[in-house]
Amino acid sequence: MKDIQPPHLDQTRVRQSFRRGLESYHGAASVQAEIASQLAQMLQAQGAPRHFGSVLEFGCGTGHLTRQLLQRFGADSLILNDLVPEAAQVLRTLDSTAAAQSRFAAGPIECLPLPHQLDLIASASTVQWIPGLPALMARLTNHLKPGGWLALSGFGRSQFRELAALGSDAAAPSYLDADEWPAALPEDLEILQIEQRPVVLEFDSALHLLRHLRRTGVNGNAQQGWSRRQLRSFEDAYRERFGRGGKLPLTYDPVLLAARRTG
Ligand SMILES: C[S@@+](CC[C@H](N)C(=O)[O-])C[C@H]1O[C@@H](n2cnc3c(N)ncnc32)[C@H](O)[C@@H]1O
Repeated sequence: MKDIQPPHLDQTRVRQSFRRGLESYHGAASVQAEIASQLAQMLQAQGAPRHFGSVLEFGCGTGHLTRQLLQRFGADSLILNDLVPEAAQVLRTLDSTAAAQSRFAAGPIECLPLPHQLDLIASASTVQWIPGLPALMARLTNHLKPGGWLALSGFGRSQFRELAALGSDAAAPSYLDADEWPAALPEDLEILQIEQRPVVLEFDSALHLLRHLRRTGVNGNAQQGWSRRQLRSFEDAYRERFGRGGKLPLTYDPVLLAARRTG
């Protein structure tokens, strides 16, 4: 498998960036909202049961995927996790039945104590922030029951390709294309469906584009602070290379998968 880790990921910066963006994230993250809806649909289309025993969702953020799952599936118990402790607010957005069955656990999913025998592990738009995905996926799979389900989305290597081409350091550490996922998963996890579906947003100016990134917290690994001159030269370079019809395109490259533990 190709090397998927950059030399360094500052998780404190990722946490600060998502914490700062938490208030604005829900409304601004239109692409992630659509991904969450498609991921829950994919799980349903693959024949997942209407009711699960115990469920873990990691990187829950403001609950785009949580709500999509709860609209389609029931659960006896639901653990919601996020790196950002303030994401515990998501519990307040659930109806009283779901809230009573749910608890929030803060911290990096890589080292969170987990119950064994989970029936479903789900996560949308989060794994790209985690270096060493094969190790994480092996650990998570160990906590799934045989026959347990996984519903996951990340982003492929064309994620924010315009920013990468212009030398931005905002990239997350683990972008994987659909054809790279099988090598990142343990052998006892069978992929039922995997889809890579790029989406292009358009912005009127570099300022609008950067504001979108800040509101969604997705530039968590980037240096902060731009001078007016830096902004102008960034906008000029962006327009020259990628501008179309007066707009600045920004590519999202979601990869969605549904899988089951076989053994
Ligand atoms: C782009 S948001 C996605 C939120 C939500 N799942 C959605 O679909 O809208 C990514 C979330 O992952 C969280 N996150 C990043 N690294 C994490 C880690 N190592 N463990 C748990 N959560 C993490 C961030 O705090 C953020 O809330």
